[in-house]
Amino acid sequence: MPALRNAAAVVTGSGRGLGAALAIALAEAGCHPILCGRDPTGLERTAATILDRSGVESTIIALDLADAGSISAAVAAIRARHELIDILINNGAMWLERGSEPHTSAEVLGVINAAVSGAYLLTQDLLPLLHRSARPDIVTIGSISGLPNAALQTAAVPFYAAKRAQDALADGLAQMLNGTPVRSLVVHPPYLDDVEPDGETWRLSPERAKGERATTRDIVEAVLFALSRPRHVSLSIVVDADNGGRFAPMISPR
Ligand SMILES: NC(=O)c1ccc[n+]([C@@H]2O[C@H](COP(=O)([O-])OP(=O)(O)OC[C@H]3O[C@@H](n4cnc5c(N)ncnc54)[C@H](OP(=O)(O)O)[C@@H]3O)[C@@H](O)[C@H]2O)c1
Repeated sequence: MPALRNAAAVVTGSGRGLGAALAIALAEAGCHPILCGRDPTGLERTAATILDRSGVESTIIALDLADAGSISAAVAAIRARHELIDILINNGAMWLERGSEPHTSAEVLGVINAAVSGAYLLTQDLLPLLHRSARPDIVTIGSISGLPNAALQTAAVPFYAAKRAQDALADGLAQMLNGTPVRSLVVHPPYLDDVEPDGETWRLSPERAKGERATTRDIVEAVLFALSRPRHVSLSIVVDADNGGRFAPMISPR
């Protein structure tokens, strides 16, 4: 993909799930992935897959988005190895399911801090490196939970609130960066089936019928589409589905 060739791309939460699939796809599109997350084993696994599939060496950076000290250390480590970055994908976020028991303070603070404070601090600290790029992009992975009037479905209230705040982060960044080369792009997934780029479910994902769930592949393709638009176009994409989408039936309140 010419728009992405040789781009240095930071992907948070890239040790598993959507973040790993995004990093693998970006490497295949010609990017140099900078893999960030808490779990070194997961990050190593993603790096090994990328090396195997694309022959690209990734940079691995330890990052806990809920810890300001870890964010500063991660930014210092990125700066030490990269003069600039072209893409920042704010993907890492903690899921919290609605339940009958009260949430612990660690759960509530973890969800909000990783998705909101952490994503903002990381973005703010990486902006000087983004400003050195000729094609700088920030991508927020939101959620249909973050859209106005979205049904709560199975999400816990702190997750729902964090995703609404992430949508505001993307909008606020777009306004703050208006008139600069940096784009703020956002993709809102519905509930997803996690399909891995190596697997048969990835290959079969485009054959799904209406009524089936969206997959990580659908979100990866939406992100690549947004990133590869001409630079005067900034996209906010809602990926919807009947199953687990914006208008999926409410579950009964507990
Ligand atoms: N899957 C869905 O149905 C769905 C639907 C809507 C939106 N999304 C959004 O899509 C993104 C990816 O989700 P996913 O489906 O891949 O979920 P996941 O499998 O739960 O993965 C979450 C990722 O975020 C990382 N993360 C969580 N807390 C972190 C922290 N404090 N610091 C650094 N990284 C942290 C995790 O890394 P660790 O390995 O360190 O835990 C993991 O890589 C999230 O923003 C999520 O809200 C997902």
